[in-house]
Amino acid sequence: MSLSLSADQPERPADADDGVWLECIECGETFAPFDDVRYTCDECDGLLEVRYAELPTFDDFEGHGVWRYADALPFESGVSIQEGATPLYEVPRLEEEVGIEALRIKHEGMNPTGSFKDRGMTVGVRVAKELGVGRLACASTGNTSAALAAYGSRGGMQTLVLLPAGKVAAGKIAQASLHGARILEVDGNFDACLDIVQDLAGQGEAYLLNSLNPFRLEGQKTIGLEILEGFLADYDATPDRIVLPVGNAGNTSALYKAFRELVQAGGLAEEDVPKLTGVQAEGAAPMVEAIENGADEIRRWEDVETRATAIRIGNPVNAPKALPGIRETGGTAVAVSDEEITEAQRDIAGEGIGVEPASAASVAGLRKLRAEGIVGDDERVACLTTGHLLKDPDAAAAAGSEPEPVPGDTRGVLEHLRE
Ligand code: F0G
Repeated sequence: MSLSLSADQPERPADADDGVWLECIECGETFAPFDDVRYTCDECDGLLEVRYAELPTFDDFEGHGVWRYADALPFESGVSIQEGATPLYEVPRLEEEVGIEALRIKHEGMNPTGSFKDRGMTVGVRVAKELGVGRLACASTGNTSAALAAYGSRGGMQTLVLLPAGKVAAGKIAQASLHGARILEVDGNFDACLDIVQDLAGQGEAYLLNSLNPFRLEGQKTIGLEILEGFLADYDATPDRIVLPVGNAGNTSALYKAFRELVQAGGLAEEDVPKLTGVQAEGAAPMVEAIENGADEIRRWEDVETRATAIRIGNPVNAPKALPGIRETGGTAVAVSDEEITEAQRDIAGEGIGVEPASAASVAGLRKLRAEGIVGDDERVACLTTGHLLKDPDAAAAAGSEPEPVPGDTRGVLEHLRE
């Protein structure tokens, strides 16, 4: 199977431009990468992955940020706003409380627009330019729309975003708006928005930059590469486990691909690949359901609800890439309640790190798996926090303390403090 960790490096087809091509993960059909716009396989509608004639290892990486990993990407450079190179924070109090050997927080909220989506867009918008398309579009729970708007405007292109009405955090809409996207508020959930935007893209109305687009996931591989390099520098070992929130399962797929390619290139031993561990909100957990049932396909959830609106998704389109990633690495998936998410958000904030609710799901999931004994006390773990606190100011304010009204003089303030 092409998605196995021990798969051989694929044969280069005749139509590969500069050693890059697209391959269907279902039927193996190959396509030239930049001749035509295509998101899925012409033959069987399966998901596509980018393939390379030559794969790099750690020695080939140089520079800073996403483009440090250019040898693992389809181009040497992209439409860039200095994305990547995010902090890998130590969190000593959380580490002790969870009770594991090491816990680090990879805070993707420290990207230019405040989420990991920037890593995918720097590559995706570059590809859009190569293809010569006019308008860029996405469906979004918010962060993708903010990143698309910023990178699209940076690249001088028009952007169109479809958002589920009433279910997108304020910071994200403000970003999409100021960066100049045309914003359509759809009477339906994220999955309905994605259905529509896929239809629009299929009719040639726009170039799709959701994570169904295989090039976006190439940029997101760099999260995994940075985590490995960070752990190798600090512990001389890769992490035992990476815990991440799951929506469309793009990151799960991208990290798995990064590790598979390093194994194929001889830069990483199979036993050193971190266990990919996905976390969903209880009200939107089709991936967890599939992992628990040992199913090869997910069941689409029509009704989804969670305070973590970024991952309010019932039909994770990348499941065919992500399920093998979780299974082949020996990982798992777990669902957490909104209360557990908010508690984790507060505790991460207690270490000085501000994240949005979906991001805190990673720590909430780790806690749960530790309590169940699935995560051992000897493990070194990286939790991915995917978006910044300021993305969702309402959720942050609701989870935090209430401002207290006081009079406008020192005496009044002192009296209030002593009450
Ligand atoms: N965390 C945050 C903050 C997100 O915005 C998303 C996805 C995820 C996690 C899930 O990542 O899809 O790779 O599993 N947000 C998308 C959006 C859907 O439109 O912004 P995934």
